[in-house]
Amino acid sequence: MNVLVIGSGGREHALVWKITQSKLVSKIFCAPGNAGIAELACLVEIKQTNIPELIKFVKDNKIDLTVVGPEQPLIDGIVDAFESERLMIFGPSKQAAELEGSKVFAKNFMSRNNIPTANFRSFEFEERFEAERYINEVPAPIVIKADGLAAGKGVTVCESKETALDILDEMFTKKSFGKAGEKIVIEDFMIGEELSILVVSDGKDFVVLPPAQDHKRVLDGDLGKNTGGMGAYAPTPFLDEKMLGKIKCTIIKPTVYGMAKEGKPFKGCLYFGLMLTQTGPRVVEYNCRFGDPETQVILPLIENDLVELMLASIRGEISRIKIKIKPVSAVCVVLTSRGYPDSYEVGKPIFGFDKVINIPGLYIFHSGTKKENDTILTAGGRVLGVTAVGNLDNLEETIMTAYRNIEHITFDGAYYRSDIGKKGLGSN
Ligand code: GLY
Repeated sequence: MNVLVIGSGGREHALVWKITQSKLVSKIFCAPGNAGIAELACLVEIKQTNIPELIKFVKDNKIDLTVVGPEQPLIDGIVDAFESERLMIFGPSKQAAELEGSKVFAKNFMSRNNIPTANFRSFEFEERFEAERYINEVPAPIVIKADGLAAGKGVTVCESKETALDILDEMFTKKSFGKAGEKIVIEDFMIGEELSILVVSDGKDFVVLPPAQDHKRVLDGDLGKNTGGMGAYAPTPFLDEKMLGKIKCTIIKPTVYGMAKEGKPFKGCLYFGLMLTQTGPRVVEYNCRFGDPETQVILPLIENDLVELMLASIRGEISRIKIKIKPVSAVCVVLTSRGYPDSYEVGKPIFGFDKVINIPGLYIFHSGTKKENDTILTAGGRVLGVTAVGNLDNLEETIMTAYRNIEHITFDGAYYRSDIGKKGLGSN
């Protein structure tokens, strides 16, 4: 098969890396990709949101399967557009992708289907005064979420009612979030351990991938601003079989079956952002695609042929798949540009790749890089994910392998958290 992967981050690098191992695949393309992906796939200069050009490329180049990494094209309806041209594509339809594309839809869906989540109310622009009244009624901290995609900045945890009222003003008066902020969700702040569970579904059934934990804040100790993800590890030792069983019963099954019942069957990778609260597991958010950087630590754990898994999702044959998990742990530490997640400079030469090649169990997944005249330059806020794979019983050693090697890679303004995976050691 010829396969096209859409996207340009660390998640897509990991997807391409895993797809190269498929016995079904002869050639891989990636649009638009990055300098790391270029080592494994043919880069195609088409933006990930340019659906007509992507369709044309797929037809012209006899691509058998397209795999979509990021959420935006899915929410824009790329799967519907491909399927109407009878082209094979892995991912959810536009309607199913609403689980990520509209926080109001997701929260109301969870209410209708008795799926545990934080208590909430949603408000439209015209209901500004009701929203203010609600903020004054509920205790702080208060979480305010823009309904639509807001470049990772749509969720604010407001420590006080004053901050919550300021955010309301940003959304409804200043319209700083544009269309994404025309509707909002105001919800209770949840306390507990966060974790990410990704499942692959065919719309009727699903398989669960190994659980991972992301580190969303920019500073050690989960402090500072929210980011796209500063690092991840998998599996998560604190999740036992009993809790996983509860998550399947109370969250995953009702979601997959609920979407089918509502006429929006979810095919593709469904990401459950969960909080293990004192009253049980609750959904923080859904994403309609693989997580980043969770993918970088989940895929090295899976024995299965990823393309077989994706084909089973597309063909409605997931019940035939059994996920085979390797007895290993994986840790990904993300190197970022100075200033991230606010503004940052790009174009800095990256040094030290030669010191980290051919190290068993070490993978450098590129997130924001590009090659210019044989030099690899930074090209994003998140630049690289240094990923170590080691013994399942020795997460500490796997963490140390990632950190020992990250030191070899340098660029002006390089930054990383120094506590990725620590919670998995039970010493947070
Ligand atoms: N790691 C968070 C996300 O993929 O959205």
